[in-house]
Amino acid sequence: MNAKQAAGYRAAEWVKDGMTIGLGTGSTAYYAIEKIGEMVSQGLRIRAIATSNASEELAKKYNIPLITAAEVDHLDLAIDGADEVDPEMALIKGGGGALLREKLVAIHSDKFIVIADSGKKVSSLGQFKLPIEIVPFTYEWTLKLLESKYDVPFELRKNGDELYVTDNGNFIVDAAFGVIESPATLAEELKALTGVVEHGLFVGITDTVIIGYEDGRTELI
Ligand code: 5RP
Repeated sequence: MNAKQAAGYRAAEWVKDGMTIGLGTGSTAYYAIEKIGEMVSQGLRIRAIATSNASEELAKKYNIPLITAAEVDHLDLAIDGADEVDPEMALIKGGGGALLREKLVAIHSDKFIVIADSGKKVSSLGQFKLPIEIVPFTYEWTLKLLESKYDVPFELRKNGDELYVTDNGNFIVDAAFGVIESPATLAEELKALTGVVEHGLFVGITDTVIIGYEDGRTELI
């Protein structure tokens, strides 16, 4: 058992019969989905919404019944990974490009559990480049707007020679803030910029963090 698996499997303990749940994205969420799939094969009855096309495929592989937002008005629980977790449980997410759907699912869940290996714990956010999802229309101007407001390096995410395109058809800019003094302030500022769809700062959303260690131990925050 590795650290990501330990965290993912532990989170599956919160999934109970009859729940509607949100399935996160990434290599740690993979293990939670795998475990939940095993529980479904043993008779657990749940319904789920996936936060990315990749996680949707995984859910289908494990026969986890999928629903859309038209069928429920909220979720009981969402489980997802993170790129950085600070002591206040603020997060940077979006390394895998799924931040918009991940945030939508997280804020519409009664409980949001974050699963991460111990390397994701930081004293302050910002070493990991902050993903910012922007609309393709006039993206050059949105990038310039970001550069004019913050004196840090911004990089349009690429997929080979092409610009990376999210599941929502948008682009991502990765911003190297270094240290983010006030995640809440930055979150509000970025959200107010026209052209920015969403950003990877998750502040005040997380209920529980499960940290996994290489020896298979888990720690709850
Ligand atoms: C995807 C995410 C992931 O949760 C985050 O990148 C962590 O991924 P991993 O579990 O593979 O380290 O936010 O958009």
